[in-house]
Amino acid sequence: MSAGLPARKRVAILISGRGSNMAALIAAAKAEDYPAEIALVLSNVPAAGGLAIAAAEGIATATIDHRAYGRDREAFERAMQAVLEAHRIDIVCLAGFLRILTPWFVGHWEGRMINIHPALLPAYKGLDTHARALADGATEHGATVHFVTPGMDEGETILQEAVPVLPGDTPETLGQRVLAVEHRIYPLALRMIATDYTLL
Ligand code: GAR
Repeated sequence: MSAGLPARKRVAILISGRGSNMAALIAAAKAEDYPAEIALVLSNVPAAGGLAIAAAEGIATATIDHRAYGRDREAFERAMQAVLEAHRIDIVCLAGFLRILTPWFVGHWEGRMINIHPALLPAYKGLDTHARALADGATEHGATVHFVTPGMDEGETILQEAVPVLPGDTPETLGQRVLAVEHRIYPLALRMIATDYTLL
């Protein structure tokens, strides 16, 4: 650590899939002045492609398969919580993590857990956001980083950026345009909250 810089916040990224937002956060955190380090990548899906990317970057990885816990969401979350505590995590970033979280887990991480959503919240909460925006004839769409609260995709916005919807767009072409924005704003949002949190 450079003299004069505060200790970097220890971040866990929770994923379920390919992990392109995770990779963007890992890349950003390599900057010497970045206020957070990626200390753990945790997946609920053993085959998630992002796990191999993280491991290749030398980052600790963990898999907690939610299927082992049946319908007991809290038991699954208690297992996650134990791993997060073992790695002394300060901030949790959800990055394509496709499990609904209970009020117990969300409450534990209140103000310290953020999510990226592929829409301009409060528009298009939930799934299939690109197809729904196109079906509505929306002229703009985008991505939002927000704090996680018990209501799905409802927490306070940290950063949001719009993209135009272009003639001939499909969910795939629009999704690619949004994803490029996601990869830019997620590292910026984490920088913001890790810095604020440092000052608390
Ligand atoms: C991203 O587009 C993210 O915004 C979205 O899943 C994708 C994950 O891609 N998240 C949600 O829809 C959450 N409601 P990635 O694994 O390549 O980051």
